[in-house]
Amino acid sequence: MSHAEEHEGTRRDFLYYATAGAGAVTAGAAIWPLVDQMNPSADVQALSSIRVDVSGVEVGSQLTVKWLGKPVFIRRRTADEIEAARAVDLEQLIDKTSENANKPGSDASDQNRTLDDAGEWLVMIGVCTHLGCVPIGNGAGEFGGWFCPCHGSHYDQAGRIRKGPAPENLHVPVAEFVDETTIKLG
Ligand code: FES
Repeated sequence: MSHAEEHEGTRRDFLYYATAGAGAVTAGAAIWPLVDQMNPSADVQALSSIRVDVSGVEVGSQLTVKWLGKPVFIRRRTADEIEAARAVDLEQLIDKTSENANKPGSDASDQNRTLDDAGEWLVMIGVCTHLGCVPIGNGAGEFGGWFCPCHGSHYDQAGRIRKGPAPENLHVPVAEFVDETTIKLG
């Protein structure tokens, strides 16, 4: 849980955010500086649940927001990404559980990873399950999803670990759509 902090994650997170998220972060750009300046100890209560406007997130792009001290990736997947992620044989997966707080105990099928039934919206904690670096997104790595450069972990289009030292799929936090364009985290 605290790996990100052990790795001085805040500065690192920001650097990856700034380089990997360019062009896809209109709403996030507004949210980030606001949240980043808050004192976590004073505002942790207020931040335990946040609402994110995703109306500006185009298909094939990703928004990164900071929530409870960690980056959260909100990706709106393309039809090709959805199709590729759903075609994966679960037997090939390293971590066969969904790691989805909204669906505890479920398997790692693509349908169990996404927020909506159509599979367009993927919301994940942006912290590598190896030692807590922030993976690079937007189709990075050998499996078209995310890549963690710290020790070479590759995640697929559903954020599932496919290669490298990370033991678990990227975690999906408690999240829901509260209206058509707003996702509530927590
Ligand atoms: S922290 Fe991501 S591969 Fe080691």
